Amino acid sequence: MVDYAHLQPATRPVAAEDAQSRIRRIRTDRWIGYARAEAVLAALEDLLTFPKRLRMPNLLLVGPTNNGKTMIVEKFRRAHASVPAGETDAGAAIVPVLKIQMPAGPDEGRFFGAILEALGMPYGARDRVAAKQDTAVRIMRATGTRLLVIDELHNLLSGTALQQRRLLNVLRWLGNELQIPLVGVGTPEALRAIRSDEQLVNRFEPFALPLWTDDDEYRRLLSTLEAVLPLRKPSHLADPAMAGRILTAAEGVLGEIIAIVVRSAVVAVDSGTETISARMIERASFIRPSERRRVAV
Ligand SMILES: Nc1ncnc2c1ncn2[C@@H]1O[C@H](COP(=O)(O)OP(=O)(O)O)[C@@H](O)[C@H]1O
Ligand SMILES: [Mg+2]
Repeated sequence: MVDYAHLQPATRPVAAEDAQSRIRRIRTDRWIGYARAEAVLAALEDLLTFPKRLRMPNLLLVGPTNNGKTMIVEKFRRAHASVPAGETDAGAAIVPVLKIQMPAGPDEGRFFGAILEALGMPYGARDRVAAKQDTAVRIMRATGTRLLVIDELHNLLSGTALQQRRLLNVLRWLGNELQIPLVGVGTPEALRAIRSDEQLVNRFEPFALPLWTDDDEYRRLLSTLEAVLPLRKPSHLADPAMAGRILTAAEGVLGEIIAIVVRSAVVAVDSGTETISARMIERASFIRPSERRRVAV
């Protein structure tokens, strides 16, 4: 019996499995906790329990693309799972956390359409904006929505100046009307859009999810990642040389850090070396993100 001491207890039995099933495991998306993400989750939890009042606080999660923003709000939404209509006493679904994406080419009709879609409400593409708005607000009340997450908020900027102004008004109105906190998620561009509205900017507290730098937190992330990938030998990813190599190749972007390590781990299993080498990291990062999607990881 080998004890695989470099792995988390739950991963150890997996390390004994054959190459094919381990590769499948390695490629499966998983949640890796890190301090910044836990802090965001705690802040969201705080918002959810905030007592109703006229002006609810809002939060803006800001960071570069592919840096873990959507993963965090998805984890939060899952932690506050909806209850389908058939399973509640009142016969109406309960949706505590509603998450939508700001539509590209945003206008009020599409915005409320996105809400109705997220609520699973059919609507006609030709329904008037006012009708969609009324239905959206009515259903959000009926389903007990306590927090609205708007991902890809920077899509606001793809609208005309007039559309942008109108949508910012809608956001302000919606928060007041339902007395629920809004959580915006987007790139720094989203912050720029919000800043153009003097009243909104005071109500959205920015929470930054910056690029990663070579510090303790980053080393911890690598250690955690290594401990959940079922390789039979340690790779010592958190050692300075390896950590630096991965960070440079990933340009500090979380999604890239994880993709590079995952890709290397697959090579490590496939080749039978069972440990990630500097050369594997180098190769895994030669493939640009746009190409990586086409090549099977
Ligand atoms: N906490 C995490 N645990 C594991 N993988 C993560 C985590 N956060 C991000 N990732 C990886 O990074 C990729 C990009 O994350 P995502 O949340 O979509 O970024 P963003 O919304 O900032 O563009 C994800 O598909 C996932 O593979
Ligand atoms: Mg995202």
